[in-house]
Amino acid sequence: MYSLIRPLLFRLDPDLSHDLAQWFFRRQTLWQTLSPIYAHEDPILETNLLGLTVQNPIGLAAGFDKNAQIAKSMMALGFGFVTVGSVMRNARKGNPKPRIARRSAEQALVNSMGLPSQGVKKIQDTLRTLNHDRPVIISIGGHSIEDYRVVMDNVSEFADAIEVNISCPNVEHGTEFAEDPHLFQELAQELASRKSKPILVKIPPYSIDEEEKMLEIISTCLRSRFEGISATNTLKVNEPKISMKQGGLSGKPLLRETNRIVRRIHQETDGKLAIIATGGVFDEWNAFDLICDGANAVSLYTAMIYRGPGVVRKLKTGIARLIRERKFHSLSEARGSRFRQ
Ligand SMILES: Cc1cc2nc3c(=O)[nH]c(=O)nc-3n(C[C@H](O)[C@H](O)[C@H](O)COP(=O)(O)O)c2cc1C
Repeated sequence: MYSLIRPLLFRLDPDLSHDLAQWFFRRQTLWQTLSPIYAHEDPILETNLLGLTVQNPIGLAAGFDKNAQIAKSMMALGFGFVTVGSVMRNARKGNPKPRIARRSAEQALVNSMGLPSQGVKKIQDTLRTLNHDRPVIISIGGHSIEDYRVVMDNVSEFADAIEVNISCPNVEHGTEFAEDPHLFQELAQELASRKSKPILVKIPPYSIDEEEKMLEIISTCLRSRFEGISATNTLKVNEPKISMKQGGLSGKPLLRETNRIVRRIHQETDGKLAIIATGGVFDEWNAFDLICDGANAVSLYTAMIYRGPGVVRKLKTGIARLIRERKFHSLSEARGSRFRQ
């Protein structure tokens, strides 16, 4: 079905097709009616993520549901968990359009959304009406420790877990905390002292040369008793087609680096931090490989654009098949198996 719609959508300007998709996904009743088409749960996929039971390890990555308006539709598509946000303290328009470019040959996008948000107060009202039966992770953004603190304090009661986004390449100072481990330590200390829900930290795609810095961030997470890492956000690249001329690359080109980073974190922490692997997950082999590398779950954004809403079901049936073919009894048994062979 999506293979019929996609050529039409891809003929439209990317910002317009993004807005159109958001409009469709806000028709939550429609998606709930369609959910039997997308539903496919297999008990072998049930797993524990951050102390929560998730029916399957496929999540929606941050940024697709910035204001908690389409979470129910995403659950109807069969995602095991949904990330809402990044939620900002104050309402923001984000960067001027055009702010999304396609790189279709690579199955990638470059975006410079610039963290548009309705602001935490408005989003709180929406979250209040969101009754959900699958975990909701709320991604929080900010420009200062105070911003993160205020947003976390205001959304925690609605969240099953908090994802601290320190890795947005599309706003000024968006990666400051990821670049400076001392600054991150201050942020972590403040958030740890107020936390009431499991915390994940969303990191940028650190290059091999930056791995030492990444490991400092990871050890601060362990010391702060944070529960996990989301690896990773988009990669900063030049892109003449968008107004800011630079943006975050997402999709297939990220996958190899996602694998490297997941492996390194799993090895370094002995599996003590939960890992949500994000970046270039398009099919069951990508997802299963990341799980064998040490990820507890995966999340995706760009694959929804290139593969359509049916991608979630395809991933789930495929991962369940791979678990059985490789003679594992459960998903958690497969996690990190790369290091046990
Ligand atoms: C248009 C767009 C907006 C995004 N907005 C956010 C955001 O608000 N917060 C965040 O942490 N990540 C954001 N991301 C990054 C995704 O969550 C994800 O980390 C990244 O796209 C890599 O995964 P993918 O290859 O499956 O898309 C955004 C990505 C895209 C494409």
